[in-house]
Amino acid sequence: MDTKKIPVIMDVDTGIDDAVAIILALSSPQLDVRGITVVAGNQTLDKTLHNTLSVVDYFGRGDVPVAAGADRPLVKALYADPATHGESGLGTARLPQPAIKPHSLDAVSFLRDTLEKSDEKITLVPVGPLTNIALLLSCYPHVKEKIERIVMMGGGAFEGNMNAVCEFNMFVDPEAAQIVFDSGVDIVMCGLDVTMKSYTTMEDILRLKATGTKAGDFCAEAFGVYYDRYVNNSRLPGCAVHDAVAVTYLLHPEWIRAERANVKLDIDGRETYGQTVCDFRPDRDKTADNALVCLDIDREKFVDLLVKACQYYK
Ligand code: BDR
Ligand code: CA
Repeated sequence: MDTKKIPVIMDVDTGIDDAVAIILALSSPQLDVRGITVVAGNQTLDKTLHNTLSVVDYFGRGDVPVAAGADRPLVKALYADPATHGESGLGTARLPQPAIKPHSLDAVSFLRDTLEKSDEKITLVPVGPLTNIALLLSCYPHVKEKIERIVMMGGGAFEGNMNAVCEFNMFVDPEAAQIVFDSGVDIVMCGLDVTMKSYTTMEDILRLKATGTKAGDFCAEAFGVYYDRYVNNSRLPGCAVHDAVAVTYLLHPEWIRAERANVKLDIDGRETYGQTVCDFRPDRDKTADNALVCLDIDREKFVDLLVKACQYYK
């Protein structure tokens, strides 16, 4: 059996589901997390950075470098989402003050250096607005050859959550997303089509809590208001754990149904600004395909994986 770990760098705007994605990634023997870069999104950069440092430290991985990135999108003003993630960004969950500090390099320099120095290609896993990744690919295009692929959470082929067609991470920084989708780097897009099927019901949350671990307690607490918001405002019987789906794709792609497509960012449309326009037509020019678009998931297995991740933190 091939036991080689997959080298990854995550890019996060922590965020409740970002925190769960980090917990999942750090629990997996299949992943070698070389670093975590941070961007503004769910909350302002000072908060998303603080949350990321807190999560990494609290879950015993202070050895993983955390680098601070962009504090605003490329063109638009920052639109944060305290209504979903709370004023702190982690709902009502409270973590101890982190003992670790951010890396001395900014996120883009950290990404550049780590990619340049790596003998192997590294997979980037952005689960927030794509500002840091767009800056990296624009300023240092030579590092593309060191990127295995980008496995991201964002967009949607057939649904939006900010309006009918636009997903939050794309909504916050559509211009950055356009740069990334047009970069020539191969993309796995875990958008709303799959992440809205990746939810935890109250019964599932009680299973996480019943692990009796600090991760189970954290998830149950962080999901409180987030869960209520989903159940009250969406058609779901639970809360979508969007960002953990990108990590799940790396670990178990066989649980996820996906189709290749040509994906373009609309940055001009009056009603469709920020939409990921996905062309699946059989007679499209397939040489222009730039992404594998995830569409469905075995939800039961996804929830079991989250439970297993929590059990790891005994
Ligand atoms: C995305 O937006 C944020 O609320 C989540 O962290 C996730 O990355 C879902 O649209
Ligand atoms: Ca996120």
